[in-house]
Amino acid sequence: MSAQVNIKRTSVPQIIARKGGEPLVCLTSYHAHTARLIDPYVDLLLVGDSLGMVMYGMETTLGVTLDMMIAHGAAVVRGSQKALIVVDMPFGSYEESPTQAFHNAARVLKETGCQAIKLEGGSRMAETVHYLTQRGIPVMGHIGLTPQNVNVLGGFKAQGLAQEEWAALQIDAQDLAQAGAFSIVLEAMAAGLADKITAAVSVPTIGIGASAACDGQILVSEDMLGLSPKVPRFVKEFATLGAQIAGAAEAYGREVRARRFPSAENTYTTKSKKKEPTK
Ligand code: KIV
Repeated sequence: MSAQVNIKRTSVPQIIARKGGEPLVCLTSYHAHTARLIDPYVDLLLVGDSLGMVMYGMETTLGVTLDMMIAHGAAVVRGSQKALIVVDMPFGSYEESPTQAFHNAARVLKETGCQAIKLEGGSRMAETVHYLTQRGIPVMGHIGLTPQNVNVLGGFKAQGLAQEEWAALQIDAQDLAQAGAFSIVLEAMAAGLADKITAAVSVPTIGIGASAACDGQILVSEDMLGLSPKVPRFVKEFATLGAQIAGAAEAYGREVRARRFPSAENTYTTKSKKKEPTK
């Protein structure tokens, strides 16, 4: 159990205060070492349930469990110092009732030391968002392409591409903000719709495949680092770590086979025995 309070971290009110200001920089993170590297450059780290695909090779996020989220959430809290840490509620851990959501979200906060949780869904989740925020659990909303809904949507499809869909998504965002969500992720939706939602709601919108006008942006770290085999069109690769890792493994293999590694500097030698002082 950790439940640590670190007052140097970015707080939920500080995130809310950035509405309409300098864009919020957000990335996902699932483990301590990358959290430590990324933390100085971001305002918010999301321990997303995308870890099911990225870390565990699953095809969707549906198999991710609360225990997996807690283990990775605690690792990211331990690896970071400055960013606000948000942990995703996995499929099946919050949809049934506000009390189910409170029970599981309280476990996430207590056992990871994170500051907030994220859950997917618009108006239908407003009652739960209100219930949690009234009881000390800050909630980030998530609308547009909601991957936990993949079977209903019929795939990972961008939303709001037809203008007839806009009104419902705008109401979703308004309902989440009014229920007390401190920010809302807008995933894979028409840019014009993301612009309208951002202008209309009182809390920051965080875009991923949405619009540059959002109050902040988030990407899956492994995608933007060039580690993912396939990325959606909204991803920009800011590094090519995948190629670097493969290159490093190849070079290591060459040196091991040629007995060039380990060299003298990578091996231990016996210490020469100290002479007993003569009395
Ligand atoms: O799980 C995740 O990584 C997310 C982001 C894509 C916003 O929800």
